[in-house]
Amino acid sequence: MVAQYTLICVICVICVMKKFEQLKTEALLALKSVKDKLQLEELEIKLLGRKSGELTNLLKGLKDLSEDVRKQTGQLANEVKKEIEDALAAKKKELTAKELGGLLEKASIDISQPSLPAKTRGHFHPNTLIQNDLEDFFTSMGFMILDGPELESDYYNFTAVNIPKDHPARDMQDTFYIKGHPDWVMRTHTSSVQVRAMQKYGAPLRMVAGGKCFRNEATDVRHEHTFYQLEGVVVDKDINFAHMKGVLEAVFKHVFGPETKMRLRPKFYPFVEPGVNGEVTCYLCQGQGCRLCKQTGWLEVFGAGMIHPNVLKEGGIDAKIYQGFAFGFGLTRLAMLKYGIEDIRLLESGNMKFLEQF
Ligand code: FA5
Repeated sequence: MVAQYTLICVICVICVMKKFEQLKTEALLALKSVKDKLQLEELEIKLLGRKSGELTNLLKGLKDLSEDVRKQTGQLANEVKKEIEDALAAKKKELTAKELGGLLEKASIDISQPSLPAKTRGHFHPNTLIQNDLEDFFTSMGFMILDGPELESDYYNFTAVNIPKDHPARDMQDTFYIKGHPDWVMRTHTSSVQVRAMQKYGAPLRMVAGGKCFRNEATDVRHEHTFYQLEGVVVDKDINFAHMKGVLEAVFKHVFGPETKMRLRPKFYPFVEPGVNGEVTCYLCQGQGCRLCKQTGWLEVFGAGMIHPNVLKEGGIDAKIYQGFAFGFGLTRLAMLKYGIEDIRLLESGNMKFLEQF
């Protein structure tokens, strides 16, 4: 009996060790073909993602083994984890050094150029003021503040949020692609952070992520090629549409005061179901109708909806247990509303006369 038990144990130990060794070999091989930080981040999530990383899953599996097997394999497991983490960190260092080297090579410094007079202290841009204010408000409601890359993978910007390659929804956002890098885009919306956050933190989740977005727009008083959005995601058990409406109303009352009116109208977004577009009363005409609001009395400032199960699934969250809502505010539009700015193009113009008013 004892001999048989020992034999089984030995087989288990070898089997588990092999799995770790194999994962290490594959990870180091994959790391060799990584060419930039985006690819590196994707590999890191694939291996070490909190919910469904391959190494994370192997490590989690150890707890189901007998104590004997666990004791004999634990040390190797930790060594493999450390080796993979070290290799990822070394690659990150190497890529950063390459980036910096490239920049320094290109930079030319004219040491004879006179310095600019330092007469005034800088101050925050209106977009930053509204972003800081909203981040404080969301923090008070228990939301995490996250960030995401502006140069984004096609996967996180589109595919992960239920917009596959041939989906007509891609036409809704004229995208800046990057020459020579067909898989990269300048992110068209902050919804690119949704699946990143789910893969990293799992459920329950409460987060906002603000920042720049880019679209190949024919610009006008309300549309810019570079503008700011603030994304929000809430995932938990028993979350419904009323929770979403409550949060959105609280935000608008906080920013514009208790009299502010908000209306929701159905709108299709592939990553939510049902989806809505949200409008608030036009500040310029107080709802009477003017050129800014195209005579409607309302300004569209956000999109929102209940998160599509495909998106939860992509984020590694079980859609049978968890539901959630997401929203994306046009931060630049909110700044226009809050400060009475008539033309969105002023905000990115670098015009000091305009900016010094804030
Ligand atoms: C989106 O970008 C969705 N990602 C929002 C969303 C998030 C929907 C989560 C559902 C769930 P949309 O393209 O409608 O949706 O943009 C959202 C807001 O960004 C708009 O209401 C508007 O305020 C702002 N916006 C969009 N395009 C521009 C632009 N070119 N210039 C300035 N603001 C813009």
